[in-house]
Amino acid sequence: MSRLVFVLNGPNLNLLGKRQPHIYGHETLADVERDCRELAKELNLDIRFHQSNREYELIDWIHEAREIAVGIVMNPAAFTHTSVAILDALNTFEPPVIEVHISNVHKREEFRHHSFVSKRADGVIAGFGTQGYLLGLRRVAKLVDEKKA
Ligand code: DQA
Repeated sequence: MSRLVFVLNGPNLNLLGKRQPHIYGHETLADVERDCRELAKELNLDIRFHQSNREYELIDWIHEAREIAVGIVMNPAAFTHTSVAILDALNTFEPPVIEVHISNVHKREEFRHHSFVSKRADGVIAGFGTQGYLLGLRRVAKLVDEKKA
């Protein structure tokens, strides 16, 4: 049975490691992808890891995930706070969705406190740095295993 999880990253996360490192840390997105792949092996998950600065591309990946994935771990970045279109796309996806933010958005500017994606997410992780992605993968694996049992 498929154990494919999509790990999706929104705008500006391609600059992770260079972008405001005092907020987002020094790890690059390639480091995050490597760590996710390592953990996925341990959890017996397959992953597709994507980043885009374009809203439509993230939506297309969510549509693709509908057909083949058992979960989505997503850091929608700034689209978190603005995108009804991404919320609508996630609402078409039935398996677990975990929303990840590297920083603690609740400690930051007020406009970051609202998340459209949280209206769909089964779990939200914020402020755990890039470790949040790994916690998200562990949670999806657990929910998939529980569903099978
Ligand atoms: C972020 C938080 C968002 O508010 C911001 O726009 C990002 C990254 C995070 O990972 O902490 O780009 O999602």
